[in-house]
Amino acid sequence: PKPALQAIIDLMNKTPKTAKTSNSASAKTLRDASKGFFEVGVALPDRVVRDERLNKIAALQFNRVVCENEMKFESLEPQENRFTFERGDRLVEFAQKNGMSVHGHTLVWHAQTPRWVFQDANGGQASKELVMKRLKNHIDTVMKHYKGKIKTWDVVNEAFTDQGNLRTSSPWYRALGNDLIKIAFTLAREADPDAILIYNDYSMPNDPKRQGIIKAIKEINKEKKIIDGIGYQGHWDLNWPSLAQIQKAIDEAREAGLKLYISELDINTDRSKRNSGRGLEANPEIDPSTLQPITDMNVVLRDRYREIFEIFLKNADVIEAVTVWGLDDAHSWIRGEPLLYDRNQNPKPALQAIIDLMNKTPK
Ligand code: XIL
Repeated sequence: PKPALQAIIDLMNKTPKTAKTSNSASAKTLRDASKGFFEVGVALPDRVVRDERLNKIAALQFNRVVCENEMKFESLEPQENRFTFERGDRLVEFAQKNGMSVHGHTLVWHAQTPRWVFQDANGGQASKELVMKRLKNHIDTVMKHYKGKIKTWDVVNEAFTDQGNLRTSSPWYRALGNDLIKIAFTLAREADPDAILIYNDYSMPNDPKRQGIIKAIKEINKEKKIIDGIGYQGHWDLNWPSLAQIQKAIDEAREAGLKLYISELDINTDRSKRNSGRGLEANPEIDPSTLQPITDMNVVLRDRYREIFEIFLKNADVIEAVTVWGLDDAHSWIRGEPLLYDRNQNPKPALQAIIDLMNKTPK
């Protein structure tokens, strides 16, 4: 060996390793790792938006936000024609400052909608005309207020039953009847022709529900495409839905030509739902007492998030965004440990597992 060889070895040994290893190769945050796949979102209540420490975490990891409650009907128009945009505006401002997109949730829903909407002056059932006039005023005012700032809207939320029929117990149904979805989307299209209009619901991996909904959407869109996308909420658990159910649900959205949003993802870790811990379909024949007890929920949750995101990444062609319904377990609407940060806002192994998976998945 010549001195040249040793000189090269010595030089390599004493040179600090920078360029290739630590820099470009792998993204450190979820929002960086997700580039080229889909947007990653988080639902935030106003108290999290106002909290500097918490909102920093949100802006670090996510590039999409949605108000957990602050853009629902009762929040934006608690009394007829008295609009209160302050909290919604705060989220929009926070998003703009941090280069995040904003999703609007939600215009027509049977819950969190004030009673006055459906009542006449004497407290009786308001006429279809009156409810339509109020809905038009609400949609017009809200969508125009946020025009150019909010690109995607959940126009109608949870209007179907688990059997895939219209939810007849909804006050919107009682007032507007079978045309309610068409009416709402038509009004939304007129209010902001540039917005992407979405139908959003839960339990979408269940065939009868999803298939009933997609059939209804196709029927409405036949005349004129007014429904652009579909939101699968994703309030799931450790056993349900199975990976096959998720894949099938995604395939059917793609076949229907709809943009797909996983809109409210969280994983319920409730003990009663916890009988296998590994993506096994909820199965009445399984005796939970015969299964291995879960000793480390962080590990089980990590594996569950990872297997779900493996499917999302495989289907990134049709998925526009994946949004988790809350920043951390202390700010979740359900008990347990459903989210990517624990109650003290420490990142869980699930978060790192998703980032690692994205980093190693070819775009
Ligand atoms: C929930 C919020 O997280 C709670 O804070 C609120 O009390 C009730 O609503 N489906 C939806 C969301 O579309 O708006 C719901 O959010 C969760 C279920």
